[in-house]
Amino acid sequence: DWVMRDHIEEAVQKIRDQVGDEEVILGLSGGVDSSVAAALIHRAIGDQLTCVFVDHGLLRLNEGDMVMDMFVGKLHAKVIRVDAADQFLGHLAGVSDPEAKRKIIGREFVEVFKAEAAKLISSGASTKGAKWLAQGTIYPDVIESGGAKSKKAVTIKSHHNVGGLPEQLGLKLLEPLRDLFKDEVRELGVALGLPHDMVYRHPFPGPGLGVRILGEVKKEYADLLRRADAIFIEELRSTLDPISGKSWYDLTSQAFTVFLPVKSVGVMGDGRTYDYVVALRAVQTSDFMTADWAELPYALLKKVSSRIINEVRGINRVTYDVSSKPPATIEWE
Ligand code: XMP
Repeated sequence: DWVMRDHIEEAVQKIRDQVGDEEVILGLSGGVDSSVAAALIHRAIGDQLTCVFVDHGLLRLNEGDMVMDMFVGKLHAKVIRVDAADQFLGHLAGVSDPEAKRKIIGREFVEVFKAEAAKLISSGASTKGAKWLAQGTIYPDVIESGGAKSKKAVTIKSHHNVGGLPEQLGLKLLEPLRDLFKDEVRELGVALGLPHDMVYRHPFPGPGLGVRILGEVKKEYADLLRRADAIFIEELRSTLDPISGKSWYDLTSQAFTVFLPVKSVGVMGDGRTYDYVVALRAVQTSDFMTADWAELPYALLKKVSSRIINEVRGINRVTYDVSSKPPATIEWE
């Protein structure tokens, strides 16, 4: 539509005026905000933008490849993919406390990102080196960090969303989504040609599967969880509610699978199994401060359960989380 096209033109011009011929670095996570910021900045300055995508090994199934296909394959943006899975898993070995895990993931993330940024700052594609750090900060983030009074909620879980990085790196800050609400960011993303599924994704926490594997994180657990979760999400996307015509993915605010590192007994053919358990979690919420568990259709739960147990060897039991927030939280850690 025209309004959006004008908005893009205006935003593009503003970015060009701001950065001139200097180079920009952006941390791409695959989430909505950083993706839309990347697409917009790329539209404005093309190859002056380099995205850094840190794969911590705790992403969903094929997520890294999908991000690369989209940004490199389709948009032809410059993206450096850092495969840091071994480093993250190494530091997480033996750690089971949720806050300790979050801190490690957050710290490593900053470390890896800074190391990549430092290379771009000192060399740069064009001898000059990068001068800007772009972030997908949106208006609600601005309010949240500006006015402590705006949210009386205490911090229950430390988020590792990075602050203070531009100063540490000596870079100027570029935040082209600063004035936009989430809905506007999504519309902008679609107008910039990002796929609907990417732009209307459920939120995914920075620590990723690190907080969806209870206790110690192991690669074996992450691999099982990724496959189980992909089945759950696929079925949510393909099962439509006949009344609204919407998919259950769109009817829920956030849905995912949690890995429980306990084994229970099952039976398969003539044999006994002794395998892991997963929990399905799906919630409806308007602000993520409170949330209700979603009343998913039994037929959907049944199909997801039987597919996971049949297709993911190593998991023989699927449960559904019927806890609301409060007193439970949305994530299990
Ligand atoms: P909880 O579990 O606190 O989650 O009810 C509320 C919302 O926040 C997300 N979440 C996180 N996001 N880093 C993030 O970027 C984190 O460490 C983190 N912990 C929780 C969660 O997915 C939900 O949307």
